[in-house]
Amino acid sequence: MVRGGAPAVRGITPSSLTSNFGNLVSNTPDEQGATMTIITAPQQYNEEQLYVDLNPVIGHSLYLKCEGFNFAGSIKLKAATEMVEAAERDGTLGPGSILVESSSGNLGVALSMIAANKGYGFVCVTDSRCNLATRLMMEALGAQVHTITEPHPETGMLGARINHVQTLLASDPRYVWLNQYENPNNWKSHYNRTAPAIAREFPNLDVLFVGAGTTGTLMGCARWFKQHRPNVRIVAIDTVGSVTFGTPAARRMIPGLGTSIRPAHLDESYIDEVIHVEEADTIRTCHQLARTGFLFGGSTGTVVSGAKTWLNQHDMGTITAAALAPDLGERYLETVYQTNWVQDLYGDDILNTNQLTTQAA
Ligand SMILES: Cc1ncc(COP(=O)(O)O)c(C=O)c1O
Repeated sequence: MVRGGAPAVRGITPSSLTSNFGNLVSNTPDEQGATMTIITAPQQYNEEQLYVDLNPVIGHSLYLKCEGFNFAGSIKLKAATEMVEAAERDGTLGPGSILVESSSGNLGVALSMIAANKGYGFVCVTDSRCNLATRLMMEALGAQVHTITEPHPETGMLGARINHVQTLLASDPRYVWLNQYENPNNWKSHYNRTAPAIAREFPNLDVLFVGAGTTGTLMGCARWFKQHRPNVRIVAIDTVGSVTFGTPAARRMIPGLGTSIRPAHLDESYIDEVIHVEEADTIRTCHQLARTGFLFGGSTGTVVSGAKTWLNQHDMGTITAAALAPDLGERYLETVYQTNWVQDLYGDDILNTNQLTTQAA
């Protein structure tokens, strides 16, 4: 637990690897008091207590909660688990069902994993921005992947993906669409798990930075903090080119954050501030973090870049700040971390070594 600005030093021990899903997990202390975790289904395991203090990288203490340490490799495991279990409880989902979902990738991986484990079929409807590694991972887990290549003229890639989902639903009654864009169990997973987990570790938290995709993570955390710790500032981080907070649509190449249709979950009355980050700054921040040995996903670069901008303006060394890192970097080796891809899209100078090694600028 961190009180005030100074974190209690804690190494990674087996006992910090805890599950928050299901009751089948066995945690048995050994003779040294360390705990071994035994699971029978991949969705039962999720690291919930790992934070990186980014002070050496950005010059402010920013506690980055790492959500990529589970078998689905991302924060989307929580939304997937909660939506599937709720659909099973209310009878929407059962033997013979085929899940269908529109996803930029990470929810698709989480649902592929859960569907494989529980014996459901799964069709992921994604688009051409989905990383190759992510698509291959879904296929390895037995999912079918439908990749949309043409955006809808008004509602963009997301609109075209949703139209495809509707066509599938009309074609076969076995299809079940959990609909992450409107399903309240998406944001409830973060209301029930992510936000209380952060609050437990940081009783004196001043500000929380959360990226906005479907806004499930953002709204779950924002609702919990406004109800239980109203003094915590909630700062939403979005990508330039996303329409979520009313700004115009423009090209976006990094999956995860931003959208071409305003998210149904979003209620701006819970959000204190919004910061928009250029994708070029996302790329620079990802590479800057990688130079220190932390290979995070694209959206983490966006969140950290936005948080750094905010902290540069507000932090005189006394603020306790946390942010969410939705996934890790392996899925982005052919995009965010690939020099040709980056230079073709954002220009030759973007990976200028001086900028990347400038710490705490
Ligand atoms: C890498 C990554 N970051 C951020 C998000 C955004 O999360 P949310 O949909 O809860 O807003 C997602 C969602 O797919 C994601 O895959």
